[in-house]
Amino acid sequence: MSSELSPIDKAKFAAAKRAAALVESGMRAGLGTGSTAAWLGRCPGERVRNDGLKIKAVPTSTATAELARSEGIEVIALDEAKWLDLTIDGADEFDGHLNLIKGGGGALLQEKIVATASDQMVVIADVGKKVETLGAFPLPIEVIPFGLQTTQKLVEEALVSMDVLGRETSLRMDGATPFATDEGNRIIDLHLKRIGDARQLALTLNQMPGVVENGLFIDICDRVIIGFGDGKVEVRDIDSGTVENSQVDFAEESNLFADLAD
Ligand code: A5P
Repeated sequence: MSSELSPIDKAKFAAAKRAAALVESGMRAGLGTGSTAAWLGRCPGERVRNDGLKIKAVPTSTATAELARSEGIEVIALDEAKWLDLTIDGADEFDGHLNLIKGGGGALLQEKIVATASDQMVVIADVGKKVETLGAFPLPIEVIPFGLQTTQKLVEEALVSMDVLGRETSLRMDGATPFATDEGNRIIDLHLKRIGDARQLALTLNQMPGVVENGLFIDICDRVIIGFGDGKVEVRDIDSGTVENSQVDFAEESNLFADLAD
């Protein structure tokens, strides 16, 4: 049961459970990618099956599409939805301005397109993702395969004039071969350690011809829902400046946890 989950998984679940309460019947919702967002897929999934919740979901990766369908959630393409009421997604880091690093799972391109096409973007994360300054987590950039090494070299040269602490870059691998995104592109991870000016860096990277998108989400996230291992949940809203606290009772979630044990 819940005691088999690690504190980090409990924190992710708590954040996802709170976020699921934001999803209402009739909504068109973007569903994020990653282990925290996977918890999210299960919570509305349960409401779809048991309570008749009707939503149309736009997934941010093929993995999320598969998960949503397996939970009985109706999946549609972004171009069918055109605009979304809400997108809920995880993050690799978030700062006090709710700027983010995303793309640890390699889905940053679809994630950014979907989040940008939403009235609201809500991030769900365990408290370990909170940072003073972005950059300890390697910043992923999605690049096209053509001229990959040349693009990597140009990025390294551009980093020389950026306000960052580290400048190493690495091609993300999937075993012996380069990792391929859902669009067939590659990911280069930038080991920057500390990003002094995330806005300037994001603009500079996106001006480079081989770079499709970067994992910095600046002024996109409206709210972050932070989960803690003891079930505490904190909701920070950047527009209203409010912080709201609540508590998830793991004992009430025995159905979900039992499903996982199957
Ligand atoms: C996927 O590409 C990422 O942006 C994820 O949202 C991010 O890596 C968070 O993933 P976890 O919830 O698994 O930490």
